[in-house]
Amino acid sequence: MASEDKIEQLKKLREESRLGGGIERIEKQHEKGKLTARERIDLLLDKDSFEEIDAFVTHRSSAFGLDKKMIPGDGVVTGYGKINGRPVYLFSQDFTVFGGSLSETHAEKICKVMDLAMKNGVPVIGLNDSGGARIQEGVSSLGGYAEVFWRNSMASGVVPQISAVMGPCAGGAVYSPALTDFVFMVRNTSYMFVTGPNVVKTVTHEVVTSEDLGGASAHSIKSGVAHFAEENDAVCLQQIRKLLDYIPQNCEERVPAKSPKEPDAAKAEKLDEIVPESPNKPYDIKDVIGGIMDKDSFYEVHEHYADNIVVGFAHLDGRSVGVVANQPLSLAGVLDIDASVKGARFVRFCDAFNIPLVVFEDVPGFLPGTDQEWGGIIKHGAKLLYAFCEATVPKMTVITRKAYGGAYDVMNSKHIRADYNVAWPTAEIAVMGPKGAVEIIFRKEIEKTDDQEAKQKELEERYRSEFANPYLAAARGFIDDVILPSETRQKLIRAFELCQNKVDRVPKKKHDNLPL
Ligand code: HXC
Repeated sequence: MASEDKIEQLKKLREESRLGGGIERIEKQHEKGKLTARERIDLLLDKDSFEEIDAFVTHRSSAFGLDKKMIPGDGVVTGYGKINGRPVYLFSQDFTVFGGSLSETHAEKICKVMDLAMKNGVPVIGLNDSGGARIQEGVSSLGGYAEVFWRNSMASGVVPQISAVMGPCAGGAVYSPALTDFVFMVRNTSYMFVTGPNVVKTVTHEVVTSEDLGGASAHSIKSGVAHFAEENDAVCLQQIRKLLDYIPQNCEERVPAKSPKEPDAAKAEKLDEIVPESPNKPYDIKDVIGGIMDKDSFYEVHEHYADNIVVGFAHLDGRSVGVVANQPLSLAGVLDIDASVKGARFVRFCDAFNIPLVVFEDVPGFLPGTDQEWGGIIKHGAKLLYAFCEATVPKMTVITRKAYGGAYDVMNSKHIRADYNVAWPTAEIAVMGPKGAVEIIFRKEIEKTDDQEAKQKELEERYRSEFANPYLAAARGFIDDVILPSETRQKLIRAFELCQNKVDRVPKKKHDNLPL
């Protein structure tokens, strides 16, 4: 073959690979409101930065006439590129080729980029859109999935792993995204479930649609499996780009600093008056975050799940920090099972990837009730406690109002090695709130009085002035200072400057035994 012909042959093969399952199936993909695997890559990466690998890989199966159906690439586009100038590895399943189903070779392609990501200390992003295990390949495709899961587990805590579910993701296939750090879903076009609506109907007689069972809303509001639910593919890919701005390339690195920005002026000005006089009145903790962190930098994670705790990334004077905050607007900011697990997962991510933590605390305690006790609030609350205890990144806590009971200890207290703990003058730090405390310790005294209500009130007031303040904790050095709300940003910036080279270690062990 002449060399021009060889060049033509390569161009033709490339074209064939790029076309995937063909024009008709591409149109079908568009009709469903989905982009193709390659269009998604174009939107995800910096312009012209994509380098494809394994474009010519084909499957090795001949069962069910598969040997007559060879499509180069085998249903997944893999390679690397850049996001805001920083490298990433990625795979993007191509639904137009065998429904994006995972064959042995499809899995090998994914494993190759995961291995490269680990070796080179680079995040890995998976865009999932697949009918699951390639049925014709049987156990080979199941083996392929297990190879991916093993790599997901090994990469956990080494390089950030981000999954976007942009189409079907069913059966065991859901466990790859579930093992990664962040899961994005797209509304109305993606779903995840272990068993689909038909099996559900047979087994439990429930009639449910795919969307209701495992769509973006179900997982971002009810199950917490998805951290983000986005309107469409394009928005989803933009959001992945944004998230990467807050996280480092691997566990040995730190996040590059951004140019510092002043906080939102309107929110900053209101900080000194934000905590209402009545301890039962709520306020929005996100206004506190907005008044302290760099303007518009707060990037909330798990926004719609367990909103009694708020978690997310922000920039503080240009540096990436992880924020964990009780939300008085929802269930008075109480800690329940879902909030504990949500908080613990986020704290562990930040610690694994050297992102300092800032806690804003206003917590009346753990949620009482049989639901919570029988659901295991003890072991789930322990997860949050454990996560803060083991975290060795710089850790700061600002107590804005309530810090009661076990929740005081759990929420990054001084005793579990937080580096800088401060309280606002409005803080109430005690074993429990005035009402409960008075009912227990003065029960007999109240019963003896004629006007029991007035006595209760009087004793509550006494308790409040003696105990429900920050000064008893400050007198013991359990908080480092009592500060004006308006001073918080400056104090945190200075404290972080000092902790930049903090060295703290956990004892040598094979691995921990987080209460599951
Ligand atoms: C091989 C598959 C496939 C699969 C889809 N296709 N899923 N080929 N193996 N798993 C092919 C179809 O034959 C079709 O090929 C093309 O992909 C598009 O599929 P359609 O059915 O036409 O698309 P749509 O109507 O959009 O339905 C999509 C779907 C459906 C809901 C995903 O295809 C489906 O139910 N697929 C099977 C899903 C499943 O049960 N997978 C196994 C799950 S168990 P043509 O040539 O006609 O275009 C699993 C175990 C993992 O994955 C275990 C890990 C431990």
